[in-house]
Amino acid sequence: MRRTAVLVGAGYLGRRLGRRLLGEGYAVRGMTRSPEHARELMALGVVPLLGDVTCPETLPPALEGATHVFHLLGAMRGEEAALRLLHVEGTGHVLAALPPGLSRYVYVSSTAVYGQTEGEWVDETAVCEPTSLIGRLRCEAEALILKAHREREVPAVILRSGSIYRPGSPVNAQIREGRYRVSTDPSKWMNHIYIEDFLGGLLVAAERGRAGEIYNLVDDEPHPGGTYFVALAEAMGVPAPPVTFTPPEEGCGALVRESNKRCANRKLKTQCGWSPAFPTCRDGIRHAAARGFTEAPLP
Ligand SMILES: NC(=O)c1ccc[n+]([C@@H]2O[C@H](COP(=O)([O-])OP(=O)(O)OC[C@H]3O[C@@H](n4cnc5c(N)ncnc54)[C@H](OP(=O)(O)O)[C@@H]3O)[C@@H](O)[C@H]2O)c1
Repeated sequence: MRRTAVLVGAGYLGRRLGRRLLGEGYAVRGMTRSPEHARELMALGVVPLLGDVTCPETLPPALEGATHVFHLLGAMRGEEAALRLLHVEGTGHVLAALPPGLSRYVYVSSTAVYGQTEGEWVDETAVCEPTSLIGRLRCEAEALILKAHREREVPAVILRSGSIYRPGSPVNAQIREGRYRVSTDPSKWMNHIYIEDFLGGLLVAAERGRAGEIYNLVDDEPHPGGTYFVALAEAMGVPAPPVTFTPPEEGCGALVRESNKRCANRKLKTQCGWSPAFPTCRDGIRHAAARGFTEAPLP
């Protein structure tokens, strides 16, 4: 039987995943609220379906017959009520509408669920006590998913993605044009994943991820944020962006740093056989530079 993937979230990430899935032989459908986006999806070979995770009645027709559901949407900014509707209630609505016969429900969460502040290493067993709103909402969504797995055997796999970097990121253009300022603590650890490895990780999770499990999706080498911006500037041959961050009074570090941790990726490697093609941010930046820091057009 041909595998049918539904993209819940068919924007920048979803469309690129959709192209990969088509290449792997999946039939691919993408959910959208917009007729214009529906036309764009069709041009990519993705069958558009009108749906909105905040309108539960739209979901069963969109998800019907899916063997794989990839849930990759969310928002970083906005009012708390709207964010909760999208992240938490929206996830509940999707879980309620999953069709029988589903092989995998892959949910893209975030390393924001870890609230550690001392630069410690964290794996998937680490306590999740995020202070950020997004981290808390992601935790709530994850709890709904794990409950659905326990109580209804929903074949869910949760991926906690690090910060996704890519050739055409707006930050890259700002650095090149001298407009970028490092306003966060440059010594704070960052956990990155290059776009190609992010997409590969989703495919591996769908095919080899164990139901009911959570995996960090990050590269091999967490690094201080400052290092990353300097490496980007070097690769572009422009001056490093200025740091405008002012260190806090002694003892206030934890209040200023919403989180500061190094995320481990061993579980996804050992359980699923995943390994990043771009193990450090230097590798991804080199790849992005070779593409002139512009996105490859979607065919
Ligand atoms: N960790 C990271 O560094 C990182 C980086 C990038 C993204 N992300 C996460 O991944 C998500 C997707 O990223 P992206 O770059 O692909 O974002 P994007 O290009 O803005 O796409 C988001 C998609 O979500 C869909 N959507 C929004 N609200 C919806 C709703 N209520 N019901 C159904 N669909 C809805 C939109 O569809 P229509 O407008 O067509 O309806 C849009 O196509 C982000 O929101 C973020 O949570 C994380």
